[in-house]
Amino acid sequence: MSSLTFFSSLILLFSVLTSANPVPLKQLVKPKPSGPFTMVAVHSTSPIHLKPVNAQRNHFYIGNATQTFCPQQPDVTCPIPGNTTVLQTTSRGYCNLDVEVPGGQHVYVAANGALAYTVPNSNIVPKGAHSRSFALDRTSGTRSSFTYSGTGKASGWLACPVAAAVYQIFANVELEDQNVPQKNVSACIALDALTTNYTLPGAAAWQYT
Ligand SMILES: *[C@@H]1O[C@H](CO)[C@@H](O)[C@H](O)[C@H]1NC(C)=O
Ligand SMILES: *[C@@H]1O[C@H](CO)[C@@H](O)[C@H](O)[C@H]1NC(C)=O
Ligand SMILES: *[C@@H]1O[C@H](CO)[C@@H](O)[C@H](O)[C@H]1NC(C)=O
Ligand SMILES: *[C@@H]1O[C@H](CO)[C@@H](O)[C@H](O)[C@H]1NC(C)=O
Repeated sequence: MSSLTFFSSLILLFSVLTSANPVPLKQLVKPKPSGPFTMVAVHSTSPIHLKPVNAQRNHFYIGNATQTFCPQQPDVTCPIPGNTTVLQTTSRGYCNLDVEVPGGQHVYVAANGALAYTVPNSNIVPKGAHSRSFALDRTSGTRSSFTYSGTGKASGWLACPVAAAVYQIFANVELEDQNVPQKNVSACIALDALTTNYTLPGAAAWQYT
């Protein structure tokens, strides 16, 4: 290749990468299955920095504890400690909670932008929800960022205030004030969802409630 051709190729590549509506690179790469993993919020100088993201009442929160259930039955071995929120993603861009309950629990982004999960024994996500386009973008070592590119308009996550020191997780998808608990999107805090491999054997919980 002559240096001129090489240079033109570089310019072409550069213009493709910087065109007004570039195809997001991560959509060109097939997501790898990953997990199980836990998540903490990253936004230095904010009150949510390095706080865990917890599953409770079919949504995800910072500042509220994980809520799980395990039936006290002879044939059931309840995971220990069973109070950690653990997710995994699939090679097709789906995301599940790391549970034992038959049928599993599926993670989705609800029509209002809230990160949510199905009740046990049901694969049904509500109308208008997106249950694909989840991925882990590897940063370093055991750490990655949990991402969602569902509607093409998503850019990261928001933690929206619910009560004192309690925040609910939303995909940053052009939310309107009415979508969030305190009806004020401006009060939400942008975050990266930094993940860490969960290394205990077995599922993390029987089910999340
Ligand atoms: C963390 O988990 C991913 C798969 O989910 C794996 O590829 C990676 O090697 C793990 N890292 C460590 C340090 O175990
Ligand atoms: C968060 O936890 C507090 C205290 O345990 C509880 O009163 C509140 O209802 C919880 N909030 C949500 C949204 O679950
Ligand atoms: C989880 O359960 C263990 C054992 O019961 C307890 O020591 C730990 O504090 C709990 N963690 C959280 C975050 O509630
Ligand atoms: C919404 O939140 C922003 C940022 O915290 C704040 O400045 C503004 O006053 C709030 N608006 C209302 C109506 O509460």
